[in-house]
Amino acid sequence: MNQKDHWEQVYSTKPTEKLGWYKPHLQTSLRWIKELGLAAEAPSIDVGGGASTLVDDLLGAGYRSITVLDISEKALCSVRERLGKKANMVTWLEGDITSVVLPSHHYELWHDRAVFHFFTELDQQRKYRENLLKALKPGGHLIIGTFALEAPPKCSGLPVERYNLEQLEDTLGTEFELVRHHKEKHVTPGGLEQMYLYCCFLRNA
Ligand SMILES: C[S@@+](CC[C@H](N)C(=O)[O-])C[C@H]1O[C@@H](n2cnc3c(N)ncnc32)[C@H](O)[C@@H]1O
Repeated sequence: MNQKDHWEQVYSTKPTEKLGWYKPHLQTSLRWIKELGLAAEAPSIDVGGGASTLVDDLLGAGYRSITVLDISEKALCSVRERLGKKANMVTWLEGDITSVVLPSHHYELWHDRAVFHFFTELDQQRKYRENLLKALKPGGHLIIGTFALEAPPKCSGLPVERYNLEQLEDTLGTEFELVRHHKEKHVTPGGLEQMYLYCCFLRNA
């Protein structure tokens, strides 16, 4: 099964609240984003946003230039439905982050929770990084949450790359300067513990 089929099947067969990565609100992401002090119109992108409520919360906080990208049409449709009329205030992109064409130096914020760790091959990581460097403005921020070394080796039944801080910094490259980080234990709806490494980077070049 290819990646897209996998994710379409996941979102077709399980209610959002039963998905392993589900959290009612992405509190850390939301708090860190607010603390960046971005303007309401600052373009941001939630990469692999899935059905998460981050977009709902960002709209509620007054942000007005949000893009949500995901490989799964089903996931994006479910969020649009949830948002109703407010969905028109958001840009929706269905695509694979390793190949989708994004605008150059456009975003002031790139958010990724639990997506980058699925790229276990160097070539996928390289393509992700190329898109990140293309689309994120110099001076923009990257907030990324990946599985930490203590986390299980799989997520959603797929193998993942787990990171400590040094490995994540090395993989992202010297254009990214660490601003803050912490580890966060996530408990899945099924009761399993997963340790995340959450980082905020400044794109310095
Ligand atoms: C573990 S879920 C995390 C969802 C969301 N970020 C959250 O924290 O609730 C991973 C998400 O990444 C999406 N995804 C997986 N591979 C992708 C790719 N190559 N390009 C874009 N999205 C992808 C999946 O459809 C899924 O919604």
